Amino acid sequence: MRLWRGIIEEYREFIPLDPGAPITLLEGGTPLIPAPALARRLGVRADIRLKLEGANPTGSFKDRGMTAAISKAVVDGARVVICASTGNTSASAAAYSARAGLRCIVVIPDGAIAMGKLAQAIVHGAEVVPIRGNFDQALAIVREMADAGLATLVNSVNPWRIEGQKTAAFEIVDQLSSGAQGTQHTQGTQCAERSTGMAPDWLAIPVGNAGNITAYWKGFREYAAAGRIGALPRMAGFQAAGAAPIVLGRPVEHPETIATAIRIGNPASWASARAAADDSGGFIDSVTDDEILEAYRLLAQVEGVFAEPASCASVAGLAKMARDGRLQDGQCAVAVLTGNGLKDPSTAIESAPRVRDAIDADREGVMRLLRL
Ligand code: F0G
Repeated sequence: MRLWRGIIEEYREFIPLDPGAPITLLEGGTPLIPAPALARRLGVRADIRLKLEGANPTGSFKDRGMTAAISKAVVDGARVVICASTGNTSASAAAYSARAGLRCIVVIPDGAIAMGKLAQAIVHGAEVVPIRGNFDQALAIVREMADAGLATLVNSVNPWRIEGQKTAAFEIVDQLSSGAQGTQHTQGTQCAERSTGMAPDWLAIPVGNAGNITAYWKGFREYAAAGRIGALPRMAGFQAAGAAPIVLGRPVEHPETIATAIRIGNPASWASARAAADDSGGFIDSVTDDEILEAYRLLAQVEGVFAEPASCASVAGLAKMARDGRLQDGQCAVAVLTGNGLKDPSTAIESAPRVRDAIDADREGVMRLLRL
């Protein structure tokens, strides 16, 4: 058995960083699983795959970028790192900083990040500064502090974050090409039946600060340039309807959505996200909170996959594409599930039927209740 070495070692030829021994939690190498029941429920004979980024060490895709950004910070002799965050970046920065022995400062919108993510930042010993403001304001503050030389910025405006995160695109191609993931339940043309170097037709991905769609597009293009894939996928980015600046074409001053991870009104990587969508022949669209929650429940109940609400914007997006004919029979689509559902237990509990009150510890009573 060959052991996974983390994204920097695995994809060293594509990451222009020589950190000696990287700061790594052996991130990456996440599952790409077929979702035939989901495709059936969406009424399309497409081959849908789910990239489970919630399987990363801190439960989100941020770890790919953070291993690179923190390794580089250490090489450069940094002592303090800083980020603004809707939650996942802070959890990942806190964990990798702990491992590297760096001081970590995270600035977050007060009351607007999921409980599990806050728990992670605290337990890893980050200094958490909640502000009465939103993510965009937090990012403006930390950018100024980093520009003043007070700390190294590890948000995705740090180019090393993008270098790390692009490896998810490499993995998708490697996984589809190996055909190792099994597609026996799926009808129609299958991703793994294609000839040389396989990219999906569509890459569906949530968009918040817009670093990740930028990173995937960079990754696919680099694999194409290296001759690893013949055709590029079309990028389908999805914002939450209440926080959809790129779709609207103007910043949103007061973004609102249940998907707090992507509650962002003025994305830092706006232009490169726009370019990724346009250059790939794709688009950036929005999905409502109701559509996100519907996708959230569907994924959990028919595929056994628990992804956080923001992640489910990608699946809600595929549902929308299936409805309006953009996703067609015979196509292959990969939905990126960016974060683990356990990050946000409140949404899980509040969006599900209430758990019944306790009954006496008595077998007859349990059976009566269940009508067994
Ligand atoms: N999904 C999840 C679970 C996220 O945490 C984020 C971003 C995104 C999608 C969007 O990715 O910003 O690269 O477009 N979370 C950041 C954070 C903003 O602070 O954790 P993006």
